[in-house]
Amino acid sequence: MESDASKLRRSLTFLDLTMLGIGAIIGTGIFVLTGEAAAGTSNALGAGPAITVSFVITAVACALAALCYAEFASMIPISGSAYTYAYASFGELMAWIIGWDLILEYAIGNVAVAIGWAGYFKSFLDGLGWHLPGMLSEASGTPMVRLASGEWQPVTESLLAQYGDGLSGMPRTTALLNLPALVITFLVTVLLIVGIKESARTNAVLVGIKLLLIGLFLYIGFPHFDPGAHWQPFAPNGWKGIMTGAALVFFAYIGFDAVSTTAEEARNPKRDLPRGMLAALVVCTVLYVLVAVVLTGMVPLGVLANAHPVSAALGAVGEPKVAFLISMGITVTMPTVLLVMQLGQVRIFYSMSRDGLMPKRFSQVGKRFGTPAFSTLVVGLLVGLMAACMDIGAVAELTNIGTLFAFVLVAIGVWILRVREPHRARSFKVPAFKWVCAGAVLVCGYLMASLPWITWLRFVLWLMLGLVIYGLYGRRYSQLNNGRPTSGGAP
Ligand code: ALA
Repeated sequence: MESDASKLRRSLTFLDLTMLGIGAIIGTGIFVLTGEAAAGTSNALGAGPAITVSFVITAVACALAALCYAEFASMIPISGSAYTYAYASFGELMAWIIGWDLILEYAIGNVAVAIGWAGYFKSFLDGLGWHLPGMLSEASGTPMVRLASGEWQPVTESLLAQYGDGLSGMPRTTALLNLPALVITFLVTVLLIVGIKESARTNAVLVGIKLLLIGLFLYIGFPHFDPGAHWQPFAPNGWKGIMTGAALVFFAYIGFDAVSTTAEEARNPKRDLPRGMLAALVVCTVLYVLVAVVLTGMVPLGVLANAHPVSAALGAVGEPKVAFLISMGITVTMPTVLLVMQLGQVRIFYSMSRDGLMPKRFSQVGKRFGTPAFSTLVVGLLVGLMAACMDIGAVAELTNIGTLFAFVLVAIGVWILRVREPHRARSFKVPAFKWVCAGAVLVCGYLMASLPWITWLRFVLWLMLGLVIYGLYGRRYSQLNNGRPTSGGAP
């Protein structure tokens, strides 16, 4: 069933890579978290219409980091992304830490996306008049109530405020698991096992639809844009609100770096990886800022405080059909994020396994489809089971802190290698690298500092668990410690 050779097929073009980037970037962040980040939640200040500024700040952080990723990807076109770069610049221990940290970005990030997708899927079904049972549509243990319309909703503060005592007479239950989140993860896993080229093609079609949906939203929403009514005040919680919002919507940009994990499947990685990543980032930044401007300018903030702010805003301005169409479109297209992120996680495990830091099965490629089937299945199972049980907020914040940490280390790594190996061939070089690297560290560090302390605590515990596993497994079995060659080229 499996070949010994750890060889992936080289089939991805520049356009494929750009589309993979856009596919990974546009998803839960813009469609789900924007509303919360603008309107605020019970434990976080909202940015208000100034969420547009948050998107710009976050874009700057990502652009600086993307330049650093691009230099690394052009220099070390190997599928492990930041893991491989850390190996080259800092050595094995740091590489392990970053590889472990990247699980937060890719696998845990995908948990959040699967949950976000399930929310839109459920509202899409509700729109058709088909209501999923409350027990199968939310994180385990969530108290649910059935509204008069027949749809099951989690009992939230805004629901209590809306219905007050009226809620007490409605049927109640407690959710067992989020079945749609589990099922979508399973389907994506199967697609990835069948093959990268097929996946990239599917992705390209879905990304095209996603861009059309955003265009449709902007086209219908813009005539309702009324800053005089909805942009006063523009930043209700000042700078703090803007930065809290930025730390949350950062999630919306995660994904461009996933392109770098396909380095061994790209036809011309040195040329196309940097271009693909930056192109995807530029397209998404423009779209995000436009969506944020129109969304906050067309309705009062209260309309956005839910899990489907884009369709809620359209419904509120009297466009229920477009709202339904967009809900349906998001349901169909959001799986592209799951696809690329899961692909990225598997590729990182692939590289870590080749270096002996994980069992060898994670770098074996199946003969039949030419993909790492075992690893893909393991990741799919983990993501699916977690998505079936967990709540989106904490998961998204943990993803953000892990990703920002990776960005900081990659920026430092670029600087270190410029000093240590100034003559090494780089087909893409970060311009004014000292400024760009220092800027990336500062802006990403500032965003990390804007996340809640509980997220920091979880992050530190996660890293400590990783160190224990390294001590027990990786240190003993690694290629490096057994005198064998490594994929990243240890210093
Ligand atoms: N950027 C991806 C999203 O927004 C992770 O869903």
